[in-house]
Amino acid sequence: MNVETIRVESPSNIAFVKYWGKKPIQIPMNPSLSMTLSKCVTKMDVHYRLEEQGKGVSALYFEKSLNEKFRNKFNQYLNLIVELCPYVKKLSLEINSENSFPHSAGIASSASAMSAFALAIYEIGLKHNFIKANIELVSELARLGSGSACRSILSDYAIWGRNPLTDEGSDRFAIELKEYHQEFSQVCDSILIVSSEEKSVSSSAGHKLMDHHIFRENRLMQALENIRVLTHAMSRGDWKTFGEILEMEALTLHALMMTSSPSYILLEANSLNIIKKVRQLREKDENLKLYFTIDAGPNIHLIYPKYQETHIHKLIDQELSEFFHNVIHDEIGVGAKVL
Ligand code: PMV
Repeated sequence: MNVETIRVESPSNIAFVKYWGKKPIQIPMNPSLSMTLSKCVTKMDVHYRLEEQGKGVSALYFEKSLNEKFRNKFNQYLNLIVELCPYVKKLSLEINSENSFPHSAGIASSASAMSAFALAIYEIGLKHNFIKANIELVSELARLGSGSACRSILSDYAIWGRNPLTDEGSDRFAIELKEYHQEFSQVCDSILIVSSEEKSVSSSAGHKLMDHHIFRENRLMQALENIRVLTHAMSRGDWKTFGEILEMEALTLHALMMTSSPSYILLEANSLNIIKKVRQLREKDENLKLYFTIDAGPNIHLIYPKYQETHIHKLIDQELSEFFHNVIHDEIGVGAKVL
């Protein structure tokens, strides 16, 4: 068979209610909810050949350079999904992957990269009639690559994880949040890059520390309650309650890191400077809908409605620019797609 190519694009996502703690294999300790981004994306060309005995990924170019570490990771991933997609045994692949955001921006790229690769594998299966169309399968495949990647497949807002209180959702794949108010239809995320250094502790190590965390049970209950209150606030267009939960989730994530054993800190002095300033700005202007969230790193994500964009960009320039060295203005997006 000749070499064929599938070209895909998949975004990063930012969690409003955080996934932190897991069971094998990438089964979350608690449900999470995220917003899919549109500008921070991975674009991937997957060149493939179907053979009697596939050779897996023979070459992986990341940002135009051969990358052995990613090649090994992708080959391990193919072994992991062989039960769900037996046809991967027939694949010989060469991959070109590029991110729209700079590698040094301190933005985790595993969600966008693994969701892109999962979509490409799924598309190959569809094209050659190995599988039938099934959006849940795409999200499940992405989850096996990197937990949070399963949410990047979907548009707008995605929920991943079964909620034991309502019996809704699934631990295997993410689903779209169906109901939310017009207020949340156009939402921005300006990512203030405080530091672009590699994280001192990986997310995998962080998840692991939740296994025996002293606050484990309380965190589980808090996440369930936060999902309930946050989705309710989103359905009413209530930015204030939404913002309270958003910030509580971000600070809880970092509090869990600080109180795990061993303890660690990913926030920088300027992360705290931004947090304090954002709260001061809201005190000065009670109509300001500007709230922060934080991923597993020092950078601060500012979340606000698009209709306040011009005003907030001005505030970022005038009031916050001394605390960060780069900013990426992103917004809500449509999820992974075939190009
Ligand atoms: O998908 P992972 O294993 O990189 O974990 C991501 C965890 C957080 O980004 C901190 C939170 C989340 O829900 O995305």
